[in-house]
Amino acid sequence: MTDNEITGDAGAVVQAGVVHGGVHVGVPEPPGPPVPRQLPLAMRGFVNRQAQLAALDALAREADDPSEPVRPVTVSTIAEAPGGGKTALAVYWAHRERARYRDGDLYVDLRGYGPGPRVEAAQALETLLRGLDVAPDRIPADLDGRAAMYRSLLDGRRMLVLIDNAASADQVRPLLPASPHCLVIVTSRNSLPGLTAREGGAAAGAGRAHPGGVAGAAAADRG
Ligand SMILES: Nc1ncnc2c1ncn2[C@@H]1O[C@H](COP(=O)(O)OP(=O)(O)OP(=O)(O)O)[C@@H](O)[C@H]1O
Ligand SMILES: [Mg+2]
Repeated sequence: MTDNEITGDAGAVVQAGVVHGGVHVGVPEPPGPPVPRQLPLAMRGFVNRQAQLAALDALAREADDPSEPVRPVTVSTIAEAPGGGKTALAVYWAHRERARYRDGDLYVDLRGYGPGPRVEAAQALETLLRGLDVAPDRIPADLDGRAAMYRSLLDGRRMLVLIDNAASADQVRPLLPASPHCLVIVTSRNSLPGLTAREGGAAAGAGRAHPGGVAGAAAADRG
């Protein structure tokens, strides 16, 4: 063997004549999972809704309470009449608080009230999995497989999931992560009682339908 020959698996090797200063040889950290940021644009000129914003704040605080060893994910339902300002409220609050969800935010529109067909849970999961960087050919074909992969990917992660325009609890249930560090906000024109009863969801907007839209909401906030 000559002086310059190296055999075997040496890993990282530095060969130098004269070395000035320090030499740092390290294996780069593997990149972490992607951090999706999918919230739609926040609206300009959002007004009022102090009671509902405070209700969402309180839910998010409760969701962070580590005193219970086994906790379900926190689900907040914003249920109001058409045009009542559900999406605006959810998106506004989510933008305000998104820094708390270091692992990202996911958004899916279930198109529960048209125009066009509803987005079923399996299709919504495909969208969500792609948002989590899963290659299309790795996405399972069936609903249960997709839901299981989604729960696995969100396990232990702290994410905000905004599910817009849900028409039924069945459409939403497979989209719920199991990680208690996540927070889910669901908007719907109905109160999704099946969801709130079984998944322990809390209603941030239910019972405060504002048929007058934002004007109605403003009046209710003042009153
Ligand atoms: N707090 C608010 N301040 C100012 N404008 C608002 C507010 N909430 C809603 N709006 C405006 O009112 C309109 C309807 O709001 P939004 O789309 O959020 O209603 P929605 O309840 O989600 O309706 P849909 O049932 O059709 O999904 C939008 O143009 C939005 O910009
Ligand atoms: Mg909406």
